[in-house]
Amino acid sequence: MINDFIYDIPVRVYFGRDQLRHLSAELKKYGQRVLMPYGGGSVKRTGLYDRIVKEIREAGLELFELGGIEPNPRIDSVRKGAQMCKQHHIDVLLAVGGGSVIDATKFMAAGACVDFDPWDFLDYGKKVTVEKALPIVDILTLAATGSEMDCGGVITNPETKDKNGMMYPPLLPKASFLDPTNTFTVSAYQTACGAADMMSHIIEVYFNMNQDLYMLDCFMEGLMKTIIRYAPVAMKNPEDYEARANLMWAGSWAINGFVNGGKQQAWSCHPMEHELSAIYDITHGLGLAILTPRWMEYCLDETTVAKYVQFGINVFGLDPSAAPMETARLAIERLGDFLFNTLGLKRTFPEVGIDRQHFSLMARKAVGGATLPGFKTLGQHDVEAIFEMCMK
Ligand code: NZQ
Ligand code: ZN
Repeated sequence: MINDFIYDIPVRVYFGRDQLRHLSAELKKYGQRVLMPYGGGSVKRTGLYDRIVKEIREAGLELFELGGIEPNPRIDSVRKGAQMCKQHHIDVLLAVGGGSVIDATKFMAAGACVDFDPWDFLDYGKKVTVEKALPIVDILTLAATGSEMDCGGVITNPETKDKNGMMYPPLLPKASFLDPTNTFTVSAYQTACGAADMMSHIIEVYFNMNQDLYMLDCFMEGLMKTIIRYAPVAMKNPEDYEARANLMWAGSWAINGFVNGGKQQAWSCHPMEHELSAIYDITHGLGLAILTPRWMEYCLDETTVAKYVQFGINVFGLDPSAAPMETARLAIERLGDFLFNTLGLKRTFPEVGIDRQHFSLMARKAVGGATLPGFKTLGQHDVEAIFEMCMK
């Protein structure tokens, strides 16, 4: 049965080439003073930075910038951005980059409106919600997280070794510029990690108990097939427009709230992965790639098998007449084949420098001291068992 839900995704999307000519008009809706956070330098190398600065200056807007936002963005960058907003009376923030820059920008925009430390918004114990944020516009340069079209953000606090994510409606970008050519320079590795992340966003929703919403399931299967089809093309031919465009749009739709509208769901691999990134600073999509097939294997039993069969048949074209358990196992194998062979991502924890040292702490934090109520309810020991499966 489909639950009641409200569909409301008010992000204006400018998709395709040559959309930057709309940028200054979009920014001017919110004021004159713009803060532009960006990452470690890719925007300068690609020439995008120069194009944006020219556009903004010619429009007579006042530009302030904050470069150096790190992958797995740190709370200190957020604090700095929030401080700059206050100091320069910023009207609107323009995030230029991947999920890390957009996420950090979201919490800068919220931090600008309060007198306390922006980490309080992310501290699970404090339960301080974002009521207000400065307007955010973004220019996406990496297809992966969907941050460009959702109201979430994930920030790392190196002091406490926490990587926490929160969703607050005021953080939804007002507008997103999605030009696939801005992703032509993304490395094969980051393209692969982005694809793994998008796949996980869909799998987290698709594999949930007791609710098969035919229309949404078909939509998610279509998104997964799109990613499986185009990620290897983009890795091989980075300037293939069709491939980059399909990945970019699929990434936004994987997590913009559409596929989970009306569907009861709780995520499993993401809370586990955030603990890996918090301690080992690994790329989010890589951590998800290692975890997801193991989590699927761990949750497979007679009560869950039907979903794996549906996935195997509809996404990987497996034989519908084979025995269900056999098809389910083959489906997991096919997913692993895509992640580790086609995308070339590392398969095990030891290969990415993770050992057993922090398993128990990471598992405890992943379940929030209780349980993860997802596809299968997982306790700390279940999560530790899944981590153990990732060792080989
Ligand atoms: O910093 P620069 O120099 O820009 O380089 C970045 C970075 O090193 C590079 N890059 C980005 N665009 C590029 C490019 N290199 C060449 N050409 C381009 N066009 O790619 C590297 C990774 O960037 P990053 O932004 O960290 O990657 P991604 O977009 O995958 O974001 C990952 C972060 O988003 C969070 C993750 O946890 C992680 O912290 N997530 C956010 C979500 C959300 N807001 O809804 C959901 C996700 O599940 C995820 O948790
Ligand atoms: Zn993700």
